[in-house]
Amino acid sequence: MCGIFGCIMKQGNAAPIIRASLKRLEYRGYDSVGVATIQDGKIYVKKDQGKIDDVHSILNLDDLPGNLGIGHTRWATHGAPLKINAHPHSDCTGQIVVVHNGIIENFSELKLELENNGHKFVSKTDTEVIAHLIEENLRKNPELELANAVLEAVKRLEGSYAVAVISTREPDKIICARNESPLVLGISENAVYCASDIPAFLPFTNKVVLINDGEFIILSSKGYEIRRINDFSIVAREPEIVDWTPEMAVKQGYPHFMIKEIHEQPATLRNTLRMQEHYLDLISTFLDRAREVFLVACGTSYHACLAASYMFSKLAFLPTYPVYASEFMEQHGKSVNIDSTILAVSQSGETADTLAAVTCAQQRAATILGLTNVIGSTLTRVSRVYVGQQSGPEIGVAATKTFTSQLSVLAQLALRLSKKRGKISQDEMDDIAERLEKLPDIVETIIQTQKEKAKQLAKKYKDAKTFFFLGRGVSTATAYEGRLKLMEIAYIPSIAFPAGESKHGPISLIEAGLPVVFICAKDGAHKTLIGNIMEMKARGASIIAIVEEGDEEIKALSDDYVEVPKGIPEVLSPIPFAIPLQLLAYYMALEKGLNPDTPRNLAKSVTVK
Ligand code: M6R
Repeated sequence: MCGIFGCIMKQGNAAPIIRASLKRLEYRGYDSVGVATIQDGKIYVKKDQGKIDDVHSILNLDDLPGNLGIGHTRWATHGAPLKINAHPHSDCTGQIVVVHNGIIENFSELKLELENNGHKFVSKTDTEVIAHLIEENLRKNPELELANAVLEAVKRLEGSYAVAVISTREPDKIICARNESPLVLGISENAVYCASDIPAFLPFTNKVVLINDGEFIILSSKGYEIRRINDFSIVAREPEIVDWTPEMAVKQGYPHFMIKEIHEQPATLRNTLRMQEHYLDLISTFLDRAREVFLVACGTSYHACLAASYMFSKLAFLPTYPVYASEFMEQHGKSVNIDSTILAVSQSGETADTLAAVTCAQQRAATILGLTNVIGSTLTRVSRVYVGQQSGPEIGVAATKTFTSQLSVLAQLALRLSKKRGKISQDEMDDIAERLEKLPDIVETIIQTQKEKAKQLAKKYKDAKTFFFLGRGVSTATAYEGRLKLMEIAYIPSIAFPAGESKHGPISLIEAGLPVVFICAKDGAHKTLIGNIMEMKARGASIIAIVEEGDEEIKALSDDYVEVPKGIPEVLSPIPFAIPLQLLAYYMALEKGLNPDTPRNLAKSVTVK
C-alpha cells in the first residue's frame, strides 16, 4: 500500500501542494517519498528514503518549479526502502516519470524483455517497468500520443496498479490508470487532482470522482476524461460531493481504523496471492532441508504460527514447533543449532521478543527466515531470506488484516513445500490452491453478510464477565486469536483452549449463561467437537457457534451462530473463521464505549522485552 498523488494547478506551483497532500497519505506508507514536476520542457525530481518531513527538511520538496506534478509515499514491497527504489521512477531518457501503488505480478518477464531491447533499469522495483514500457511504445511509434503509449503499457500489466504518469512530450497532462488499487480524482476551481485517497486533496476540494477498476484518466487543465482500458470508450461520470471531516476521510468514512482494516481484508488477501514466487520457493527449500523448524512469534503472529504448524503437518508432513518468542531462549536456547531453522513471523518486524529469539538462534548458527509486513524492518535485515506479506500499514493496535495475510502466505508456503515433498495428491493441492484464490471473495461475503449478526451478538452478550473460545485442530489457533481480540480491545477476560482440553480443568468455570464460542470448521474433528459442545451445553453454557452454512447439526445445538460459506478446506479455515471473531471483538468494544483503535496499556509494536 503506497500513496500516489498528482495535480495540475491553474495558478501557483504544484510542489508544495503535492508535499502537503502526500503528508495526508503518509498513513499508507512512509518508507520513502518523491515528487516530480514539469516546467519549460524539463522534468524535476526530488526523492529519498525516509518520512516526508525528514526528507523535506533536507531536500526542500516545495521548491520544485512548475504547476503540474506527481508524488509518492512508499510502503516497500519490491525492493528495499532505499533512495534508489523511491518513486517517481523514470525511463532511460528521463522524459517519462511514473508513480505507482500496487504490485505488478509479471514485472520480471517484462523487465527481461525490456532489458533485451536495451533498456537500463536502476531500481529493484516492479514500477520501473511501467516507465520503460511507455518509452518502448514511443520508440516504436514516435507519433503516438502519450495517453496511447500509457494505455498500451498498462494493457501489458498483470496485477494491481494505480499509476500516474507525466512526460515532457505532453507537459500539460497527467495520465492515470487503475486496476485493484484505489484512485480518486478531486476537482476544484483552481486545480484537478488525482490521489490514492480522498484525504489527500480534501482541504482543497470536496468534489470527488471515484475511479473504477479498468479505467484510464487523462487529466489536463481543462479537467478530466475517463476511458475504459479495454476499448478506450468514454465513461461519463460527474463529481460527487463528499461531506467527510479530514479525520473521517483518513478512515475512508469508517469510524475506526480497526473496522476499516477488517474491511480491507479482501484486498489484502488478494495482494498475498501476488507474492514473489522466488522468495516463497527459497523459503520452502530452506524449510524442506531443515532438521527442525521453529515458528517463532508473539501475540497474533504466534497464532498464525500455530495455525501454520497444522498446515505444514497436514500438507507437507513437516513437523514444526510453534514457540512464543518470549519463551524461545528458555525453552530451546541450549539446543538450537546449525541444523535448526527459525521462521520468525512479525507484522512489524520490530517486536523485541521475536528479535531476541532470532538473535539467540543466530548466535548458535541457525538459519533465520522471516515473514513480515514491514520491508526494511530489523527482521528483514537479520533474516537469511524473508518475504513481505504486503498488507499495507496497519494502524489499529489489534492485528486484523495482517493476521489473515500471514495465514495466506503461510498456507502458500505449506503448499509449495507439499509439492516439493510430494506428500499429498496433485488434485488435493490444486483444490486447496484454487480455494485459496477464492478466499478474498469469501471474506468479502462474510463481512457483508455477518456484520449485523456480530453486532447483535455484541449487544446480547455485552455484560458477560468471561468468554470461552474453543476449537479443535487448526481451529484451536482461531480460538486463541478470537480470545486475544476480545480481551485486548473489549477488556473481557477470556479463556481459550483446544476443545478437548476443556474437560481437563477449564470446564469447572462453566455456569449458566457463560458464553462459549465454538469454532466449528467442517473438518476431521467435527464429530468430536459436537461432543464438546454437548458437554458445555449440559452445564448451562450459552453456545455461540461459528459454522459453515448448512451445518444444521451444530446450528441446532447453538444459542447463536454466525455462518461462513461452505466448502473451505480445513487448513485454510482460520482465514474466514477469524473474520466473525474480529467483528465480534470490535462491536463488543463499541458496546462498552471503548475505542478499539487504542486499547489501554498496549502499543502497536512492542519493542521492549
Ligand atoms: O508486530 P508483531 O506481529 O511482531 O506483533 C506481535 C504482537 O505484539 C501483536 O500481534 C499483538 O499481540 C497485537 N496487539 C494483536 O492484536
